[in-house]
Amino acid sequence: MASRGGFSNKLGFILAAAGSAVGLGNIWKFPFEVGNGGGAAFVLLYLSFCFILCFPVMITEIAIGRKTSLNPVGAFNALGFKNWNIVGKLGILCGVLILSFYNVVAGWAFGYFVEMVQGHFDIGQKFGGFISNIVKVGGYAVIFMFSTAFIVSKGVSGGIEKAAKILMPTLIIMILGLVAYAMTLPNATKGISFYLVPDFSEININVIGGALRQAFFSLSLGMGALITYGSYVGKDDNIVSSAAYITLMDVGIAFIAGLMIFPFVAFNLGGDMQQVTEPGFGGPGLIFVTLPSVFENIGGALGIIIGSLFFLLLSFAALTSTVSLLEVPVAYVVDEHKVNRNKAVWLVAGIIFILGIPSLLSGGYSEFFSNFSRIIGVPEVIDGDFLSFVAALADVLLLLGGCLIVFFAGHVWKKHNLDAEISQGFEGYEKSFVKKFLNFTITILSPIILAILFILVFFNNFIGIDIMSMIS
Ligand code: PHE
Repeated sequence: MASRGGFSNKLGFILAAAGSAVGLGNIWKFPFEVGNGGGAAFVLLYLSFCFILCFPVMITEIAIGRKTSLNPVGAFNALGFKNWNIVGKLGILCGVLILSFYNVVAGWAFGYFVEMVQGHFDIGQKFGGFISNIVKVGGYAVIFMFSTAFIVSKGVSGGIEKAAKILMPTLIIMILGLVAYAMTLPNATKGISFYLVPDFSEININVIGGALRQAFFSLSLGMGALITYGSYVGKDDNIVSSAAYITLMDVGIAFIAGLMIFPFVAFNLGGDMQQVTEPGFGGPGLIFVTLPSVFENIGGALGIIIGSLFFLLLSFAALTSTVSLLEVPVAYVVDEHKVNRNKAVWLVAGIIFILGIPSLLSGGYSEFFSNFSRIIGVPEVIDGDFLSFVAALADVLLLLGGCLIVFFAGHVWKKHNLDAEISQGFEGYEKSFVKKFLNFTITILSPIILAILFILVFFNNFIGIDIMSMIS
């Protein structure tokens, strides 16, 4: 076990796991999902899902990882349920899929940082040209994957934990500074009220499914990232309080990111927030198209500083997440195939980079990949390009994975075994309210709701059948 390495202490684990959670999901995806979902009603749903459904899944993942000290596939084997290692395999596949497109978007973020430093504010209007410039985006994607692999190759405490300890505090300071600045802009309050005042008439299956998918993606759940990180956690750490800190940090930063983005957007739209919910606005391009012109309006050196800081922030957030995404398949190859860490890292990173090439090409360079889901006949609910298709596919697989993981823990491995692991490092767990809450959520609530929503979202997004409207 010693050769696998581990986090040096509880704080190291919390920062690394929060680093995994906080990423493009919070700063790039969350705002446009809020826009698509009609604003504050989506935010409320998202918050409830995080605390009621996802928090128990997170505890379960960490506990399975710590109990077995293994990767997601090895963990199911070690618990004595070889048939269930398919859930771990699904998770690894999902991690590979996510990293393949995530690295591309992370490359855009880093590329925008480079453009901003040079004062190229017009990059927002040239977004389409930028993402179809294969040499540029390809180059940035190489740089990003290389940096990710470099950190992971340095090991758990010397690479992953060290990077998180530097990047996470820097990120928090940057984001708070940017929020403070955004609040001073004209029309900031209009942006904030769109973000925070709910209109419940906006809620439908797409919004509910979108909020749950967002919660899973943002918390890095459902694919064993936290089984893997959990496998490096000390036996006397309190899993429940660690999970609470990770969830709070992730939700907190997504929430704060909204407080930064919506005033920026409102400033740019002259306060007309209605435009945000209209089709065609927002989407994956929201921050890449809209924000540069905000920075342009700020103008001069200040515009350059704020713009560069923003995209640097986004790159840092993405880096601690790509690191966790790469660690999952790497841990699998190291544990199960006894390959040395360094070799495993560069091999896996190379393969995932190659798998990401269709996503790289889907920004306009290749006709086929840019219109992928339309060409293969997947319903228009998902954007046409390959990158969005893979992102949506991974999202629903996370729901399935999460559902199977809690079901497994509650009913196959059995809740009392899970409890025994959780109570290590948590004195008084057996008599606590937390135990009752987890009893209900892990054995009943989470598996049922996740199964239902997985089916609804899958049929709606991939088959084009809206079961909800058929029933009502
Ligand atoms: N949580 C990360 C984000 O919000 C993405 C991620 C998903 C990372 C799943 C690891 C596992 O950007």
